[in-house]
Amino acid sequence: MNRLMLINGPNLNLLGTREPGIYGSHTLADVVAEVKKVTDSFGYELDDFQSNHEGAMVDKIQEAGRTCSGIILNAAAYTHTSIAIRDAIASVPIPVLEVHISNIHTREEFRHHSMLASVCKGQVVGLGIKGYRYAALALLEK
Ligand code: DQA
Repeated sequence: MNRLMLINGPNLNLLGTREPGIYGSHTLADVVAEVKKVTDSFGYELDDFQSNHEGAMVDKIQEAGRTCSGIILNAAAYTHTSIAIRDAIASVPIPVLEVHISNIHTREEFRHHSMLASVCKGQVVGLGIKGYRYAALALLEK
């Protein structure tokens, strides 16, 4: 399956205008374009999905488990709370890379813990939207 899934969680549809001092001025469309450059260069397709709803993200992770060879996931605030998303990741037979634009470890204490990290292949944090590109490379480079 020459296909990756990019999933962004709640409020990431507002990238570009949302707390630009933390998340920068790039939009979600810029994020998708960055990742697509990488997938194109490897001859892969990219599916991208954003939702503000936990269950919709669970559905998409399950779908990607059947249709894709890896997932790039910024679960946003659900990172810190969602056992459902954690269980969805653990249920799929493909690697999931966790991405955060900001460095969650230098922010408020409630952001320091990720419910997802222990079931993800790796984590890219604090590198801005470039982190998504690095995650794609990590999934595609052999
Ligand atoms: C985020 C960090 C989360 O703590 C926050 O809730 C987000 C974005 C990031 O990309 O830095 O919405 O995942």
